[in-house]
Amino acid sequence: MAAELDWSSLGFHFRPTNKIVVSYYKEGQWSAPVTTSDFTVALNCFANVFHYGSACFEGLKAFRGKDGKVRLFRPDENAKRLKSSAERLGIGAVPEQMFTQMCLTAVKENIDFLPPYGYNASMYIRPVIIGTTPGIGVSSSAEAMFIVMVAPVGTYSGKKSLTPLTATVARNYDRAAPNGTGRFKVAANYAISLFPYNMAHSQGYGELLFLDPATHTYIDEFGSSNFLAIQGNKYVTPLSDSILPSITNKSLQQVALDLGLTVEKRKIALEEVADFDEINACGTAVVITPIKSIDDKARLEDAAPVKTYNMPSGEEVGKTSKKIYDRIRGIQDGIEEDIHNWCVFLD
Ligand code: PLP
Ligand code: COI
Repeated sequence: MAAELDWSSLGFHFRPTNKIVVSYYKEGQWSAPVTTSDFTVALNCFANVFHYGSACFEGLKAFRGKDGKVRLFRPDENAKRLKSSAERLGIGAVPEQMFTQMCLTAVKENIDFLPPYGYNASMYIRPVIIGTTPGIGVSSSAEAMFIVMVAPVGTYSGKKSLTPLTATVARNYDRAAPNGTGRFKVAANYAISLFPYNMAHSQGYGELLFLDPATHTYIDEFGSSNFLAIQGNKYVTPLSDSILPSITNKSLQQVALDLGLTVEKRKIALEEVADFDEINACGTAVVITPIKSIDDKARLEDAAPVKTYNMPSGEEVGKTSKKIYDRIRGIQDGIEEDIHNWCVFLD
């Protein structure tokens, strides 16, 4: 079936693959992982995940390098973040080694779906933990299921990589509460972003930018990714308790330092967008996606923005962003030296 895929136009979609890898958590222990071609999950309708949303997940990628080797990018970081998300939900946390091993198994079992080198495509790995205990009272789930599934993917937007997108600010919608779960990768954060996302998309925007939920003054992040700006020789990215600690952003900051830039992690007022040379969304799915304009609207429902910030880089990716992009993609493709030992090899 993978043979029928056009690697050059994958976009970011579900596609049936060969196998998923599954483990069950009961009485404080994870079962030995099994691989199965049955992608359906049968659960009691009282299962915690259906009512109280006990679900958290991860996203990471495997790449086929120019040298033919298969690299997973920083799975140890995803393992740590998933552990923190599971602990926040009070459900079983997956040990780091088991996480990485199950991801490697998932890639191996679906190896014919790993895009070849040269198409700027990869295998997206989606590990998910759900709370499965049947119940009716509000409580955490004692039992859980951990599933690792994969999908061959191209760009998140479906456009050519590095195609700039438009964005709008969502001032009257938040994806996280001030003392809530914004810094964890829990399904609830995404559930509440769907309504404003649908609205923004129907208005023709490619991305939605959330402000800090306490004051709606500072930039938090996009619904799918972190915010990164370039100003001269500086890499600027928000410091906030309500954003996801992006592994891509963390890696890009290191790359920026390696390239001789300085890195500023601080509160960024929305108005500062006018002073930036380049703006991007960054994350596993979006990699680096340039943002060409940001509309500021009092309410997302309003037809006209109060203000529009147009980026000087316009229809092009910014020069500095492109340098950073080339370095990180080069490391993932085995072209640039992996000086920080980020990649984990399959076999
Ligand atoms: N922010 C949000 C809301 C995300 O969904 C993601 C994607 O995982 C990111 C940021 C980027 O995080 P990472 O680079 O670890 O994929
Ligand atoms: C990722 O980048 O891995 C994510 O989870 C973002 C999601 C919107 C696809």
